Amino acid sequence: MATLTFLGIESSCDDTAAAVVRHDDGTEPAILSSVVEGQTALHAAFGGVVPEIAARAHAERLDGCVEQALLQAGIRLCDIDGIAVTSGPGLIGGVLSGVMLAKGLAAGCGKPLLGINHLAGHALTPRLTDGLSFPYLMLLVSGGHCQFLVVQGVDRFDRLGGTIDDAPGEAFDKTAKLLALPQPGGPAVEAEAAKGDPARFAFPRPLLDRPGCDLSFSGLKTALLRARDALIAEKGGITVQDRRDLCAGFQAAVADVLAEKTRRALALYAQYGPAHPALAVAGGVAANAAIRAKLETVCATTGTRFIAPPLRLCTDNAAMIAWAGIERHRAGMGDVTDLVARPRWPL
Ligand code: KG4
Ligand code: ZN
Repeated sequence: MATLTFLGIESSCDDTAAAVVRHDDGTEPAILSSVVEGQTALHAAFGGVVPEIAARAHAERLDGCVEQALLQAGIRLCDIDGIAVTSGPGLIGGVLSGVMLAKGLAAGCGKPLLGINHLAGHALTPRLTDGLSFPYLMLLVSGGHCQFLVVQGVDRFDRLGGTIDDAPGEAFDKTAKLLALPQPGGPAVEAEAAKGDPARFAFPRPLLDRPGCDLSFSGLKTALLRARDALIAEKGGITVQDRRDLCAGFQAAVADVLAEKTRRALALYAQYGPAHPALAVAGGVAANAAIRAKLETVCATTGTRFIAPPLRLCTDNAAMIAWAGIERHRAGMGDVTDLVARPRWPL
């Protein structure tokens, strides 16, 4: 089959990204370029992503990112076979900027335009990085998402469960805020936790007493807040070691919950009869070494291959969008002329 080279565009949260991916059927796909311009510094003072600021930054930066991606790939727009853009779910201002730009480029050079669900982009990444075959189990754990998906095909995702409130990354970020650690909170909390005692505070393991694969993290955050306030009431503040122990206790609870729910998700996934069972993780929280180690143990005990794509492809990027475009194009799910931006779009 013919070689396909796609331009991908991503702007659904706080990363502006463009990438070029090439695939010759029968060979490994090649990421020719992947440009990601983060906005952490723009939102740092607000303790979270501010939609208006994000939208303006995407509108200002998208052009430059696309230009860079084409330049780094050494390809002209007219030599691209198609354009894939995240058309949801996400913050509507950013998604609209990406969709409008992609529409303009596709119309201008007469190329197919494909709208990609951001979550499908994450879910198909293990095929780009590790050539996984369907069906595989996907655990998406980021600042905005947390769900177990059985990926059965390019457009076939079975959701086994997910968070009923906060995403784990959000819980890490809120924990960091409560303990006056920098944002994004995940890496900061992990660094503190490494020096703490996970057994000192008995934090809850939410929803483990209920069957199924749903998760909850908001109660954990409340428990941490109570423990912190109890320390403050007792001695007027928290020490460096208190903070480390709080982080360690919190992280251990998140890791335990994710591990147990993964065990249950793997049991459900087994019913799909995979020839080569595999669990792939995606999202920023997958960078956490303690969580990763727990998931690896669960996989090892169940004969499941554990796949953690490189972090730059686990977090938001446009290579996964270009790749999802190639996959959909090859499956005949091509061109959409009436592409709309969708703030909500479950898989
Ligand atoms: O996938 P991602 O880059 O963006 C989206 O949320 O879409 O994930 C970012 C999230 C943040 O909440 C961040 O705190 C969390 O991933 N994160 C971590 C770690 N590194 C990033 N959480 C726990 N441990 C980490 N090492
Ligand atoms: Zn994402």
